[in-house]
Order: sequence, then C-alpha cells, then structure tokens
Amino acid sequence: MLKNVPLGRSGLTISQLGLGANRLLDPNEKEFVKTVNAALDRGLNFVDSAAIYGMGRSESFFGAVLGERRSEVVLASKCGIYVNDEGNVAIDATPDTIRRECDESLQRLNTDVIDLYYLHQVPRDIPLEDSIGTMAELVTAGKVRSLGICNCTADELRRAHAVHPMAALQTEYSLFTREPEVDLIPVCRELDIAFIAYGPLAYAFFGGTVRSRADVPEGDAWRLSNERFQEDAFDHNLALLDELEMMAADLGATTGQLSLAWLLAKGDDVIPIPGSRQLVHLQENLAAADIALSPEQVAQIDAAFPPGVAKGGARGGHSPSVANF
Ligand SMILES: NC(=O)c1ccc[n+]([C@@H]2O[C@H](COP(=O)([O-])OP(=O)(O)OC[C@H]3O[C@@H](n4cnc5c(N)ncnc54)[C@H](OP(=O)(O)O)[C@@H]3O)[C@@H](O)[C@H]2O)c1
Repeated sequence: MLKNVPLGRSGLTISQLGLGANRLLDPNEKEFVKTVNAALDRGLNFVDSAAIYGMGRSESFFGAVLGERRSEVVLASKCGIYVNDEGNVAIDATPDTIRRECDESLQRLNTDVIDLYYLHQVPRDIPLEDSIGTMAELVTAGKVRSLGICNCTADELRRAHAVHPMAALQTEYSLFTREPEVDLIPVCRELDIAFIAYGPLAYAFFGGTVRSRADVPEGDAWRLSNERFQEDAFDHNLALLDELEMMAADLGATTGQLSLAWLLAKGDDVIPIPGSRQLVHLQENLAAADIALSPEQVAQIDAAFPPGVAKGGARGGHSPSVANF
C-alpha cells in the first residue's frame, strides 16, 4: 500500500511515491491529464517540477491542469539553472535570479506558494550559502513552504542545512546508481532530511521497454547522451536487466516494479519519483508499493546490483543537452 511519509521536518506529508514531471509539458494531451488525476485519485500527492523542465512548460502544465486539486498536492519546483546561448544547461543561483525565478514559477504554477523549492544545482561562482540564504528569505516571505537541494555532495548538504533546514535532498538513486548510500543517505538520516530519488527507473531502462539504443526516440538527447545508453555500455547493462527480470518473475512483478519496490524498501525516508506520462506506467508503478520485499530479498538484489555495476557513469558522467531536461 502506498504510504504517507513526512517530508523531512517541514511538517508536510507526502506519498512515498511521487510523480516526476520533467516531460509532463502539454496540458492538451488528454493522456497526461488523465495520468495526473489518476495519480491524485490513488493517493499520490507529491509532484516534482522545475523551472527548466520544458523551459517553464512543466510548471505551466500544472498551473493549467490542477485547478481545485491544487490543495491536494505537495508541489515541488526548482531554481538555479537555465539554458545558455550555446544551448547548454548552465547554473545561475545568484540572489536576484532566484528571486525572479521564484516569482515566475509562482505565476506559471498558478499558485500563491510552492510547497518545496529546491536549488537545482550548487553554484560554483558564489557561495552556496548566498543562494540558500536567498531561498530562506522566500520562506519568510511566504512564497515557499520548505527548501531542498539537488545534486550536491554530503558536505554541501550540511552547509545548506546550516543556513536553513533542508526538507529534502534530491539526487539520482536506482539499482544502477547506488553511490548515495555511501554518505548522502546517512547524512539525510542524521539531519532528518527526506531523500528524493530521481531517475529511479534509470530513465526507463528498468521499465523494460528500451531493449536497444534504437528504442530511444530520435531527439531524446537526455538519454542518447547518457553514457549508459551508448553502444559500448548497452549490452552489459541489458544483461543486468535480464537478471532482474528473473527475480521479478519469481515475485510476479515487472522489472520496473521490482526496482521501485527495492527503493521503497530502503526506508520510509526514501521517496522515488518515477516520471510517468502514460497512465499504464503510473498504474504499474503505483502497484510497486504493494510489493513488500523481505530483508533477504533486498539483500539478494543488493548483491546482484553492487555499486558501480552498470557500465557508464550516472548523470554526472554525461553532459545533458537541453532537449529533454
Ligand atoms: N533534480 C534533478 O536534477 C533531476 C534530474 C532528472 C530527473 N529529475 C526528476 O526525476 C523524475 C524522474 O526521473 P526521469 O523521469 O528522468 O527518469 P525515470 O523515472 O527513471 O524514467 C522515466 C521514463 O520511464 C518511463 N516509465 C515510467 N514508468 C514506466 C513503466 N512502469 N514501464 C516502462 N517505462 C516506464 C517513462 O515513460 P512515460 O513518461 O512515457 O510514461 C519515462 O520515459 C523526473 O521526471 C524529474 O522530475 C530530477
């Protein structure tokens, strides 16, 4: 059953599965709207957007489709990155930019307050403390309820938390990306910060629908530029998927469900946010919450997918172009 869990010490409660929204961009796509409403009907209340997703279109999507259901949702968005003139993702987390971006996000989201506002990337040109300090002012101003940070080191997480309590850390975590277990998850536990796992299906890899590089749609720059989807890595990584398939079959589950159930079994403070635009995917993912893995089963999966098992680095190992950010 889908649990409700605390969002760190923010006082907010979220479902332990969220909805990743980086490709929910078009409010005229009936399937997408159906997926969002079905998610809320089934008790999923945690939605993950960002200013950069679709260059504001993901936020505008929710601004258009939530309507009166806005109050049912813990709405997360992010600031601090943009697309530069060369078409690459760049960081700008200066105070003026953060203030402006927050106002623009509020407008697009069609809301008075963002429930969880993340810094999307740690700045390199100014102290992190300046960015978080500005975001803390947004909390005081009532524009934002709680703060989070993405893609940071354990030390940066501590530094951010020292400026203002972090309700959540969001970073990549999946059977292919277990590095957060080394220090990020322990620091989250020490400081009572929720751990939000993005890319929980390794960008659809564990969904089982991508059986070759040719299955990645043309123009899907996010995946086509990912090291794990390159020719030389693919066969190695596919063989790992086959192993997961056998374990899933024993449980009467799909590989996607087993990879989500494994994340859910890591603790109530681990919250995967699979991106699913299609209703059938959402339904399958929600059913993963009904799979209770025993400690022995978790250990068996841990052993089959040790850290570093996938060929090709995680998100940090490739440079995403903007097409599907
Ligand atoms: N903070 C950051 O820097 C950062 C970076 C990346 C992502 N994120 C967040 O994390 C969310 C999740 O990551 P992600 O969407 O990139 O990767 P993901 O959740 O690992 O994979 C999403 C992909 O898997 C497919 N899928 C979902 N459920 C499936 C199922 N049951 N069977 C087969 N395929 C399935 C989706 O297809 P359909 O959409 O067609 O259903 C989509 O193509 C994003 O939406 C975004 O909100 C954050």
